Amino acid sequence: VALQPFNSFGIAARAQRFARVCSEADLTGLMSGPDWAAPVFVLGGGSNLVITGDIKALVLKVDIPGRRLVEETAKGWVVEAGAGENWHQFVAWTLVQGWPGLENLALIPGSVGASPVQNIGAYGVELQDRFHSLDAIDLQTGRAFTLDAAQCGFGYRDSVFKHVPTDARSFGLAGRALITRVRFLLPKPWKPVLGYLDLERKMAETGIHTPDAQQIFDWVVAIRRAKLPDPAVIGNAGSFFKNPTVTPEQCADIIARDPKVVHYPMPDGSIKLAAGWLIDACGWKGKSVGNAAVYEKQALVLVNRGGPSHPCTGGEVMTLAKAIQTSVYERFGIRLEPEPVVV
Ligand code: EPU
Repeated sequence: VALQPFNSFGIAARAQRFARVCSEADLTGLMSGPDWAAPVFVLGGGSNLVITGDIKALVLKVDIPGRRLVEETAKGWVVEAGAGENWHQFVAWTLVQGWPGLENLALIPGSVGASPVQNIGAYGVELQDRFHSLDAIDLQTGRAFTLDAAQCGFGYRDSVFKHVPTDARSFGLAGRALITRVRFLLPKPWKPVLGYLDLERKMAETGIHTPDAQQIFDWVVAIRRAKLPDPAVIGNAGSFFKNPTVTPEQCADIIARDPKVVHYPMPDGSIKLAAGWLIDACGWKGKSVGNAAVYEKQALVLVNRGGPSHPCTGGEVMTLAKAIQTSVYERFGIRLEPEPVVV
């Protein structure tokens, strides 16, 4: 099966074995059938993925549909969606239903099932701030299980689903679980999150200082459209590197040499640096390796310049990424960590 339609970079590669999972029963059926053999690779929206060659594992494309209100309590609304639902459409739907809380996460590409894996976050809200619980199936035993937020081990662009257990005591579910449904707790009373600079600018521009959730949704959509390439037009996987954290001493060192470095103090005393700024400062905007390039408007995003007919390869993307890492390390002494899953 050709995987080009299933990854937002638009990289051309093939899966030797491929199956769609539209329900829990589909999966348990597959697992007890003749074609089931490890390894398997779980594919959601494919929007955080770099494919560097044909995939030999059995690729499971998760298409589980459904969205519903589970319950409304004094604390808020618990809303559930199937893992295959499109994230942005789900967010838009919750707002239409009158359940605000996900508006800052508008227009993030990908599926609901992938959202907890990397704990998606934007404009001051992370998925973990609105998460209730999820259902998953163990790909080794076929058993269904439920995890709450603590069990998901959320961190910045991180969760238990990104970790491989290194010994008998550590807990990691990378490659072990297929997320089937995710529940969100949208708290009452709703409180807008407006601390992000880009949103403050929108308030100043429009003179609207008490926006409702739909207004924030529209602003986030406009901000993202202005800064980030639409994967339907220019292939990409969003931010390619995580924003690194450094100690105050390291930061002071960098400021001494580059006073303009964009940095944010974190609650734990560390300092987060804008990786996009570091890459930009090294002159990478618009540079390319083959058909993989650094986006002109946001240096943190790598794009496919070749379109669907002459797509970049995963190898070109990774060569470009390594060159960027080397130059940022040589200039700032900081190791950038890639954000997407590389397979
Ligand atoms: N900057 C530059 N040059 C660039 C890019 C950025 O100087 O080429 C500066 C900007 O001027 C700004 C700062 O860097 O002062 C931060 O940029 P921006 O506000 O665009 O956010 P970001 O840190 O680059 C993060 C997330 C995005 C998320 C936005 C908004 C990560 C890795 N990325 O980007 O998430 O949408 O904040 O919250 O944390 C994603 O994960 O795929 C993603 C798009």
